[in-house]
Formats: sequence, C-alpha cells, structure tokens
Amino acid sequence: MNLQRIHLAYFSATGTTARYMQAISKGIDAAQTNTIKLSEIKDDTITIPANELIVFGIPVFSGRIPQFAQKAIQRIKGNNTPAIITCIYGNRDFDDALLELKNLAQANGFNVVSAAAFVAQHSIFPKVAKGRPHAADLAQAAQFGVRSIQNLHTNAPITIKGSYPYRAIKPVPLRPTTTKQCNNCGSCMKQCPVQAMHPDNPKKIDKKKCISCMHCISICPKQAKKLGGLLYWIASQKFNRNFAMSRENYIVYQAD
Ligand SMILES: Cc1cc2nc3c(=O)[nH]c(=O)nc-3n(C[C@H](O)[C@H](O)[C@H](O)COP(=O)(O)O)c2cc1C
Ligand code: SF4
Ligand code: SF4
Repeated sequence: MNLQRIHLAYFSATGTTARYMQAISKGIDAAQTNTIKLSEIKDDTITIPANELIVFGIPVFSGRIPQFAQKAIQRIKGNNTPAIITCIYGNRDFDDALLELKNLAQANGFNVVSAAAFVAQHSIFPKVAKGRPHAADLAQAAQFGVRSIQNLHTNAPITIKGSYPYRAIKPVPLRPTTTKQCNNCGSCMKQCPVQAMHPDNPKKIDKKKCISCMHCISICPKQAKKLGGLLYWIASQKFNRNFAMSRENYIVYQAD
C-alpha cells in the first residue's frame, strides 16, 4: 500500500521510543513523514485527515502514559483516521499504558489498526534490558509497520491488555541532581518537557514539577545531571534482580 503521508507523534526522553518510531516508519515507507514532538505541542489543535496515518509512541511511566503526553495527545484529532499505537517500556511491565493510549486515540477520532508494547533499556535502571532495542527488536518493529498498513480502513475491534480503571498515577521518587561540572549552558532547562528547571538556574529542579523522565541526564554534554543516593542504589539492586529476564515485544492487530 502506498501512503502519501504519515505522522510520527511521540515523546522520547532517552531516545529508545524515537528509535522504535524510526524502525516502524521504515517498514511503512511513506512518501512523506512528519514528526510531531508531544513535548512541543502548546495550545494548538492538530487535525490528521482520514487518508493519512498517525503512529503514536509513548514511553511507559509507572504503568501509565506520562500526564503531559496525555494532554498533548488530546490536542491531536482524527476523522476516522487510521492510527498505530505503541508504548515503549523498560522490561518491567506496561500495565495499563497501551489500553490508555488506545482509549485516548479512539476518543479523538482515530481508528486504531494495530498496537504494540516494545521493550527497551530501562531509562532509570540501565542494567535492565541493557542495550535494547537490539537489531532483532527493530526488525520486528519494521515488520509491524509493514503488516499494520495492510488493512487501514476496516474499523474492526482491537483487544489490548490492561484494565480500567487504570492503575493510580505514582510519581517516581527519584530526581536528578546537578554536579559542579555544569557550565550553565541551559540546554536541559530548554528541553525539559515540563519546565521543571528554574529559567535562570538550570541546577535548580522543582521537585513537584519534575516527572523523573531522565531527559536532562541523557542530553547534558557535561554529564552533570545524575541520579544517586541510597534510595536509588536500593531500587537499582531490586530492579536489576527482579527484571533480569528479557521480555518479548507485545503486538496485536485489529480482530486478531
Ligand atoms: C519515570 C519513569 C517511570 C517508568 N516506569 C516504567 C514502568 O512502569 N514499567 C517499565 O517497564 N518501564 C518503566 N520505565 C522505563 C521506560 O518506560 C523505558 O526505559 C522507555 O524505554 C523510556 O523511553 P525513552 O528512551 O523514549 O525515554 C520508566 C521510566 C521512567 C523514567
Ligand atoms: S545541560 Fe548540563 S551543563 Fe547544560 S545547564 Fe544542564 S546540567 Fe548544566
Ligand atoms: S528535570 Fe525532571 S522532568 Fe525535567 S528533564 Fe530532568 S528528569 Fe525530566
């Protein structure tokens, strides 16, 4: 099937969601690809016409979709427009995140044709699923793209793992700190998806606003943002032990 235009709508704090999105897009091979960064959507509403396709990609945070991303998705409207939905998770579980994404997409006028929860290296505990996505994961994501566009306009039901009411939103109690390596370049402050850093002092993080997404740690050119402390050490030991076994990617299509 030849698609004129696809839209990749995603948030990726440490880059793994972005890698899966590129792989899916490679499988779809549309004439034009438009990127919609969810962290950059402000008050505008974006409408995607029925003859195009959108691919949503969201990292799982505490078994849910990050709240700011949820609000951004609500600003993207379809008109019975086909949608591929994906969640990327760190080998623990995706819990209710994919179901939540399906419900959000359908409520906004999208026809969800396929869904996947892909495994990636855990962005807080990087020894968990270390190095994923591997080449085999990305090949599977590309194949998922190929198969997803075979039947874009059927409107059949799609059943996705998860439960409603969704699990309660539990913020992760781990916030980055800033070391003296910081040279005040301001990149982290400008790119924080929830504006948690003080505009005049990127070393200052508002703990109530920070969603522990790890983006500032991932992009700091001086490696000046870090997680540490006893709580982090204890949680790392637990995660490394409990989620050492690699999980498989979860993929479903309409009427599977
Ligand atoms: C605040 C936070 C909460 C997370 N919660 C979960 C979770 O509930 N289950 C899981 O398997 N991984 C969880 N992860 C790991 C991420 O979902 C995973 O590493 C994902 O690949 C991150 O995507 P990104 O690289 O695009 O930012 C969490 C990560 C963060 C930062
Ligand atoms: S990106 Fe790094 S060096 Fe730049 S302001 Fe942030 S912490 Fe400091
Ligand atoms: S301050 Fe918090 S929310 Fe902002 S980029 Fe850093 S970890 Fe993410």
